[in-house]
Amino acid sequence: MAENRHDTDNPPTDGTEKTDETAGPGAAAAPRRSTVRSLLRLWPYARAVRGRLTVSVTAATLGMLSTLAVPVILGRIVDGPLATRDLAALWPLVGLLLLVGLLEAGLFYTRRVVLARPLAGLETAMRGDLFAKLQRLPVSFHDRWGSGQLLSRATADMYTMRLFLAFPLVFLIVNSVMFLAGTAVMFTQDWRLALIALAPVVPLFVLTRSFEHGYSGASRRAQDQNGDLATVVEESVLGIRILKAFGRHRSMAERFRAQSHELRRTELHKAHLLANLWAVIVGLPEIVLACALAVGAYLVAHDELSAGSLVAFLSTALALRWPVESLGWLLAYANEAATATDRFFEVLDEPDTPDPGTATGLAAPDGIRFTGVRFRYPDAPADSPDLLSGIDLHVRSGETMALVGATGSGKTTLTALLPRLYEATAGTITLDGRDIRDLPRQRLRETVAVAFEEPTLFSATVRENVLMGAPGAGDEQLRSALATAQADFVARLPEGPDTEVGEQGLSLSGGQRQRLALARAVVGDPAFLVLDDPLSALDVHTEALVERALREVLGTTTALVVAHRPSTVLLADRVAVLADGRIEAVGTHQELLRDCPHYRELMSGEAALAPEGSAAP
Ligand SMILES: Nc1ncnc2c1ncn2[C@@H]1O[C@H](COP(=O)(O)OP(=O)(O)OP(=O)(O)O)[C@@H](O)[C@H]1O
Ligand SMILES: [Mg+2]
Repeated sequence: MAENRHDTDNPPTDGTEKTDETAGPGAAAAPRRSTVRSLLRLWPYARAVRGRLTVSVTAATLGMLSTLAVPVILGRIVDGPLATRDLAALWPLVGLLLLVGLLEAGLFYTRRVVLARPLAGLETAMRGDLFAKLQRLPVSFHDRWGSGQLLSRATADMYTMRLFLAFPLVFLIVNSVMFLAGTAVMFTQDWRLALIALAPVVPLFVLTRSFEHGYSGASRRAQDQNGDLATVVEESVLGIRILKAFGRHRSMAERFRAQSHELRRTELHKAHLLANLWAVIVGLPEIVLACALAVGAYLVAHDELSAGSLVAFLSTALALRWPVESLGWLLAYANEAATATDRFFEVLDEPDTPDPGTATGLAAPDGIRFTGVRFRYPDAPADSPDLLSGIDLHVRSGETMALVGATGSGKTTLTALLPRLYEATAGTITLDGRDIRDLPRQRLRETVAVAFEEPTLFSATVRENVLMGAPGAGDEQLRSALATAQADFVARLPEGPDTEVGEQGLSLSGGQRQRLALARAVVGDPAFLVLDDPLSALDVHTEALVERALREVLGTTTALVVAHRPSTVLLADRVAVLADGRIEAVGTHQELLRDCPHYRELMSGEAALAPEGSAAP
């Protein structure tokens, strides 16, 4: 089981922080990354909604500014109608207050309505890009990344980014404008009081800087831990049978509990950081306001300030409390969004398998040719030899070549190189004389059809699962592919080929799945066919039937068939023996039985008795 792959051997968080299970929250140093720079990367997506974003920000700003008119009007009321006891002059001012209130409500409504739909579209676009990227990325990428890490990026992180654009971003702008405008208003009332009110700005600035520093580390850790948690959930759901059969569900639950506690600690640490900031952000203005009130009362008593101006000043200062107080969660949220953006782009920045994109001209039929092909998995131990260390093999055009070798010798790996699921580390592979790296990926995968040892079916109908191998094909092809694979059980399914199978449908037996996978491989009449032990899960009788039908298909294609059993080997014209990362011998079954002791062992079952890897002569 891939335990916490993300932590141990996964470089995606280069330059940022890694999840560290042993270190407590806050133990690791926070990464030096700029929140602003991370968030700016959202711009290409946000650009599509920039018009609406502007309208939204403008509406919110106007709404905020209109609240600033209230203190000024209040000051007028105190110094005017209230001081002179002239009630007639009061009503227009009260009417004005009402009007301002209505305006404010209208503007706030506009802000919300304008952004909701386009942001949902933006989230869809980002998610679409992420999904497309995940499909393009090489299999080696997926080997490295825990599925939960990708899952959490496609869901939770995406939500965080959208929410950031909807609220915190708008309010960061609006509140800054509000703060500047409010400060100006305070200065027009009385500059001495305004200076007192501004006194806490410098300590607040310093504080928020240090908060950001600590918080960005914690939020990264929390989101990574979320991803690891999702991986555990996913693996335990997918592997539920194994876990139950081996009575391991308890230990899995234990692991889940440990990880969720880890996450809880990180979240608490975040809450702690935020609470500290909040205490200061809420407390400081309170103290400052008290000071301003005392000084203001003194000034009014000495006739240096009108009572109206003091009221206007104090209510302006009160109106500014929200922009200042909200700073805490706005910064926290901006940080989370920056982390989510980093995590999103970590995936998007991964290099794809290069794709030449355009089809090249015709080539002469030459079959499949491996020349000096070497391969090692990226996570193989540094001191281990290459898994494939110089494969030279020629499968002639129209020929069926069986590939045999001890278990773990690299047969599956070798076949995976053909559709470029993995890239060979050295050497070349050609199809009809053309380097597979020069073939457009789409074209390559139409030309080469594969059936893997572990047949995977998707949550879809039998028809969709099989025709996946030939998108344009119709009923006739479906029927003949199912016939080739001896998948007559399909006719007996509740709804025939339209029965839903896979994770959210009917469960099929291993042999049934294998036959569908085989049908999927042969349905498109591929020029090259790669079968990885296609008959392993079939009973002897079905195997014989499938073999007979397969023989026909193999007659029309060039095929590489991984085989463990003599019966499968007999489908092939020639056999290649893989040992120690090389092709040890090539020949017909009879020739090899005569000349190659290792092959004799493999076929007789003696190899199973010898320790793995020591089977070579
Ligand atoms: N995705 C992977 N990442 C790292 N190592 C891998 C990966 N897949 C396979 N290996 C390693 O490569 C070696 C060869 O595996 P491979 O699946 O090619 O063997 P095989 O010949 O197909 O065996 P079998 O007959 O049991 O199917 C094994 O030692 C295995 O541990
Ligand atoms: Mg294999």
